[in-house]
Amino acid sequence: MTRHDDPFVRYLRSKEAIDDRALHRPTLADLGDRLDRHGQDHPSQPLRVVSIGAGTGAMCRRLLSWGVLDGHDQIKYVMVDRREGIADKAAAAFAEWARAAGWAASPTKDGFRIERHGREVSLTYMTSDLFDAMSALPKAIDLVIAHAVFDLLPLRRAITTVLSRVVDGGYLYAPITFDGRTAFRPAHDADDEIIAAYHETMRDGDSSGPDAGSNLLAALPEFGANVVSAGGSDWVIHPKHDSDERVFLAHILGFVEQSLGESDAVDEETLSEWLSTRHRQIETDELSYIAHNLDILAQLA
Ligand SMILES: C[S@@+](CC[C@H](N)C(=O)[O-])C[C@H]1O[C@@H](n2cnc3c(N)ncnc32)[C@H](O)[C@@H]1O
Repeated sequence: MTRHDDPFVRYLRSKEAIDDRALHRPTLADLGDRLDRHGQDHPSQPLRVVSIGAGTGAMCRRLLSWGVLDGHDQIKYVMVDRREGIADKAAAAFAEWARAAGWAASPTKDGFRIERHGREVSLTYMTSDLFDAMSALPKAIDLVIAHAVFDLLPLRRAITTVLSRVVDGGYLYAPITFDGRTAFRPAHDADDEIIAAYHETMRDGDSSGPDAGSNLLAALPEFGANVVSAGGSDWVIHPKHDSDERVFLAHILGFVEQSLGESDAVDEETLSEWLSTRHRQIETDELSYIAHNLDILAQLA
């Protein structure tokens, strides 16, 4: 079995190139500059990073590949995700990437270490709910990464928990935080009803809901974290689609189907007709999809 055989992992894999395009470059550049300065100010200390809702660790690979962490020769990177089995998928993804990128990888007790040109990154995976994981970690984190996850979390509790483990002057980077707009084209008569109901399902339980990005931006200062950079990181998919985009779009329709299938907000026939139309538009290479996201970088005072 390869890492692509798990549908969720295949979705995350398809999302990588879409996130690559979407990420707000000025915010990412600011993060890189700040980490460079942190490295200069703390030359003998490793950079301590924790990624929550890390999935298969795409953001870690991206930050290493793009040089964002280059200010540090020693990095301790902990990935936390509650999904059973995803640690193995992450390990497979890292092994493949490390080989291609020329990093030497060796296993450790709870992950592995990669080394290249005198730089060393220790990668640890915790399969755990992030609230449990955070309470088990010391207050010694320089950077928390929350990539495409805040909309799934109870906002204020997540901010409190995460920041409680960040050192003074440390950072929270929350890229691809969904922020309230979904659009499909060509327009369909049922779009407004379906999208409104889909967003409503995001308010279920104690999750941050569809306006997670704006609400996170507004709430952080109340918790002593100043927003130092932020910007839009919208997903914009349009024809002609490549194979990753087709996989990604099919998964997005799957999320709509799953969440509305569990609610009675839209009648079955309307939903079913809308979904068949949208799936057909993937096959005929006609579908466009836009989702508005925010990237936020905050520093603990
Ligand atoms: C949309 S995926 C994003 C994965 C990854 N950050 C990426 O963008 O490639 C959200 C991830 O957060 C994880 N997650 C959601 N709530 C969580 C929680 N309370 N504790 C730990 N992980 C959580 C899910 O299992 C899932 O893998």
